[in-house]
Amino acid sequence: MRFKYVAVEYFCMTQTQTRLIDGTEVAASIRSELISSVRRIDNTGTTPQLATVLMNDDPASQTYVSMKHDDCEEVGIATRDIEIDPEAPAAELFDTVDELNADPSVHGVLVQMPLPDHVDEREVLRRVDPKKDVDGFHPENVGRLVAGQARYKPCTPHGIQKLLTAANVETEGADVVVIGRSNIVGKPMANLLIQKTDGGNATVTVCHSRSDDLASKTRTADIVIAAAGVPEMIDGDMLSSGVVIIDVGINRVETETGSELVGDVAFESAAEKADAITPVPGGVGPMTRAMLLWNTVKAAAVATEVSIELP
Ligand code: GUN
Repeated sequence: MRFKYVAVEYFCMTQTQTRLIDGTEVAASIRSELISSVRRIDNTGTTPQLATVLMNDDPASQTYVSMKHDDCEEVGIATRDIEIDPEAPAAELFDTVDELNADPSVHGVLVQMPLPDHVDEREVLRRVDPKKDVDGFHPENVGRLVAGQARYKPCTPHGIQKLLTAANVETEGADVVVIGRSNIVGKPMANLLIQKTDGGNATVTVCHSRSDDLASKTRTADIVIAAAGVPEMIDGDMLSSGVVIIDVGINRVETETGSELVGDVAFESAAEKADAITPVPGGVGPMTRAMLLWNTVKAAAVATEVSIELP
């Protein structure tokens, strides 16, 4: 696979060159490489299929789910789109998950988070068949990841690992500061980075809302991965020159003319210090979606006993 980098020349006044790590482009390249794996599975008479279950009214969640369906369509993965009234009893969601678990034509099951307050999220995560858990959130899959026997790497951290590789950023021996300790990003990210594998072997510090003097930690980092969900909380003053920045945040903030999306990193001041940086949007987001396809193809390959090499 070839990856191209786009130099951001107008950030070059204080240093040689800051590279923009283009997640849109890397994700497109992964999608196009997945097409042949999907075809090989299709040739056995089984089309890989992802089922999504949405149980909330949040327009952002609806958009995310519909983008996941579009991505599936692009690579030839079939989809099933299930919506459950957010007021419905939790049992309706559990029954739906049970049916999808039992359906051999479905290879991946994704229950979009967040869920309504009356539904116990942890119970839902435990309910999804671990072999169909393409999010990688089931406790069995979390345990496997920690033990270095990952079945499905969670999509956002896996996508970040791919982005770092695509940008030729060496993690081995690097000091990485992960900001955020969520089950979706922070914790699995740290776990992936400390594995004895390519894209791992890093020294990882996990910071969070109770960490003291965050700047003293981020200034020591070769790589900063910001996943706190706080708009522009990391700026150039908190970073050392030559750092690589991965911005996981997608925050909608009000502006004089309406609203805009910003990351957890103040892009312009951080870019003045950075060797490489992801944009928001167009950095981590497309990679998360690409890795969901990856996990779905992997699930279908295992179910159909097709041996494939994923990109
Ligand atoms: N909500 C926000 N991110 C995610 C994700 O990665 N998976 C699921 N299932 N829900 C989410």
